[in-house]
Amino acid sequence: MYRSRILPLALLGLALGMSPLQDLRSDQPVPTQASKDEPKAQDKKDQKADDKETQDREPDVVYWPTPQNVVDKMLELAEVKKNDVVYDLGCGDARILVTAAKKFGCKGFGWDINPVRVKESLENVKTNKVEDLVTVKKGDIFTLDLKDANVVTLYLLPELNVRLMPQLEKLKPGSRIVSHDFDMKGAKPKQTVTLKAKNHMGVEGEHKVYLWVVPWEKE
Ligand SMILES: C[S@@+](CC[C@H](N)C(=O)[O-])C[C@H]1O[C@@H](n2cnc3c(N)ncnc32)[C@H](O)[C@@H]1O
Repeated sequence: MYRSRILPLALLGLALGMSPLQDLRSDQPVPTQASKDEPKAQDKKDQKADDKETQDREPDVVYWPTPQNVVDKMLELAEVKKNDVVYDLGCGDARILVTAAKKFGCKGFGWDINPVRVKESLENVKTNKVEDLVTVKKGDIFTLDLKDANVVTLYLLPELNVRLMPQLEKLKPGSRIVSHDFDMKGAKPKQTVTLKAKNHMGVEGEHKVYLWVVPWEKE
């Protein structure tokens, strides 16, 4: 129950100008007037039942969508082409894959551990008529074999990027990895770009995009 309240608190935190790191970590409470909104016991019970129904386990990071101009920059840095296969690990509403499919006509695969996000993704894919190109499934990204991808997109957390390294280093040589805002300790990025973007709450800030090409240079 405690954790289920973190996302709205985190969203409020970002709206108030807190750092993305603090907002995205699902285990870090953001100071708010939470006690004022403390749900009643029945609400807690209902929420618990909802959580159980919709999620096998807690996401490692809360949902926070990448602004569209940052999505465009990620795909540009990765030099996505029609024959590429793009994987978005923790795909949210699948906006990165939908954009890649519409702009470049390439295939995309996304996984999210939260079934609400998977449902939103499938709706987004349908609305944009890219069902033939984009596939989204519920799944834990730490169990995936990434060998069929040649572009991987990430908007997670630095420590989650590091946790993914054993999977990412098995990508085919020449595969590109792009990460919104977060680096990957131990892997030197080939390029880092900073740009301004407004998040979905209308708050403008600086965003970074990191690019690595497999095999990456160690740092
Ligand atoms: C910050 S959001 C990024 C969404 C999307 N990639 C984007 O850039 O707009 C991170 C997403 O990762 C998902 N997630 C967290 N832990 C996960 C895990 N272990 N396996 C799959 N998805 C996960 C969350 O549910 C959330 O939708």
